[in-house]
Amino acid sequence: MKEEINLYLDLDRLSANSDDTISHKYAQKVVSKYPQVRVNNIYSIIGECRLVKSEKEVENIKKAIEITKSGIELLMKEAKAGIKEYELEAYFDFNCKTKGVNDLAFTTIAAAGKNATILHYVDNNTELKNDDLILFDLGAQYNCYNADISRTFPVNGKFTERQKEVYNEVLRVNEEIISLIKPGVKYKEINDKATELIAEECIKLGLIEDKKDVRKYYYHSIGHSLGMDTHDIETPHRNITFVPGVVFTVEPGIYIEEECIGIRIEDDILVTEDGNINLSKDIIKSVEDIEKFMNKEF
Ligand code: GLY
Ligand code: MN
Ligand code: MN
Repeated sequence: MKEEINLYLDLDRLSANSDDTISHKYAQKVVSKYPQVRVNNIYSIIGECRLVKSEKEVENIKKAIEITKSGIELLMKEAKAGIKEYELEAYFDFNCKTKGVNDLAFTTIAAAGKNATILHYVDNNTELKNDDLILFDLGAQYNCYNADISRTFPVNGKFTERQKEVYNEVLRVNEEIISLIKPGVKYKEINDKATELIAEECIKLGLIEDKKDVRKYYYHSIGHSLGMDTHDIETPHRNITFVPGVVFTVEPGIYIEEECIGIRIEDDILVTEDGNINLSKDIIKSVEDIEKFMNKEF
């Protein structure tokens, strides 16, 4: 009788050059000792399971967002000219740790002024200037589940007219794209729509004349699946059609290096039977609420 032994492991790799994971090393060891074992890659099946979150998983993400919210509020209160980006970041870390959370979703981006136009800026060592906007992209991790939130606000608590103008355009895209998310809608549709809307806004803002030049001011996609990884199973989840239980980020941005303005507004959205719930809707986001909050009118 032919003996068939199957071993199922997650054998995904980011690229052909990336280091072997524990699973790759384990597979090699098993096959060298038991060459009759057939090794199978279970990555795409796990990916499908991870896409739709259970109630318990959503509760963990909500808790991560709640902790993230209080951290953002603390650092907004402490913002002032003359301190370094990392000093403000420290209030977020302090908040997480005092709430029992030792792990972050990813390295915090604390990017003031022109730094906010650098997509993955994590140096966080520049001094804040009075008239800077500062962009934070951060998240707490709770029970292995992540939050991924971006908020942008003025260091001195008051937007300039131009900052407000650009901010409100980004906010309009954030809200419009969120309103489109429901079961049956494809990720590609909202991604294309976001690029189209941002292109229109860049024309309104006098940045470009032709929509095809939008990539000069918006150079990432609109979002990604969120869960145990911040980019939760990257490639397959970018081709999805939304179904209830998916948690997805919506994160439009406009980055104007020549004006030292970089704005991204990112929320975490749960797809439901009849639409969606914005899990991060309570994190301050309108110009009016940000100014009131920072000027202690709340
Ligand atoms: N913080 C990474 C992202 O927003 O995708
Ligand atoms: Mn983010
Ligand atoms: Mn994100």
